[in-house]
Amino acid sequence: MNFADGISKKPARSTRAMYPSIPRRVLIATQNAGKVREFRRLLKGLAAQFLGLDELPSVPPPSEDGSTFLDNARIKARYYSQHFGEFALADDSGLVVDALNGAPGVHSARYGGDELSDEDRTDLLLSRMSDVPRENRTARFVCVVVVCDPKLRDDFLHAQGTVEGRIAFEKRGVNGFGYDPVFVPHGERRTTAEMGSEEKDRLSHRGSAIRAIAPALERLLLGG
Ligand code: IMP
Repeated sequence: MNFADGISKKPARSTRAMYPSIPRRVLIATQNAGKVREFRRLLKGLAAQFLGLDELPSVPPPSEDGSTFLDNARIKARYYSQHFGEFALADDSGLVVDALNGAPGVHSARYGGDELSDEDRTDLLLSRMSDVPRENRTARFVCVVVVCDPKLRDDFLHAQGTVEGRIAFEKRGVNGFGYDPVFVPHGERRTTAEMGSEEKDRLSHRGSAIRAIAPALERLLLGG
């Protein structure tokens, strides 16, 4: 999180110092509608104007060819902040299943092929785990959030959140998105798709990552 350090080195009489009440614009740089809903809820208390990609001219997504969540989150945040000249917040997230050697992991959004729906992917995961007993169905959702400043191409803020749990034997619930109908957080009987949005935010990987990055993001937003 090294560009928080850079803020204190900027001149004191910056535009931001003179007009601190003008909210910064921050782009929520994801095409995933489920993530946008969660980010908007989680970022509500921060003093910024959050924009969605749907409010800007459309642009093809970058190719997510990194090998880690951090690489891919950084690719997305940097690409959109450079393209639009805005602060951009992006995440890369996914479901890491121990019995599948960490799959679908960074490939969660494309598991089984691009043509599958979220529901097809969840069915595929359940079918690949049909012989796995309850005690070996451990898994976790991981989320890495990155924020890029358009002026600082190679510098960025980042934070990670994780929620431990297990894969259910069947789909349950209609809330959330993606693999929520089959993920049961540790200490729970319900899937995250059976929880209300505030409840999911309190325990989710995305909630933890946003809470971890919030103090540095606030300093950045107040900077010059
Ligand atoms: P990406 O970060 O855009 O590459 O996609 C992450 C993928 O992981 C999503 O498309 C979902 O399939 C899955 N995923 C990430 N976070 C969640 C979540 O909170 N609930 C359910 N699925 C998730």
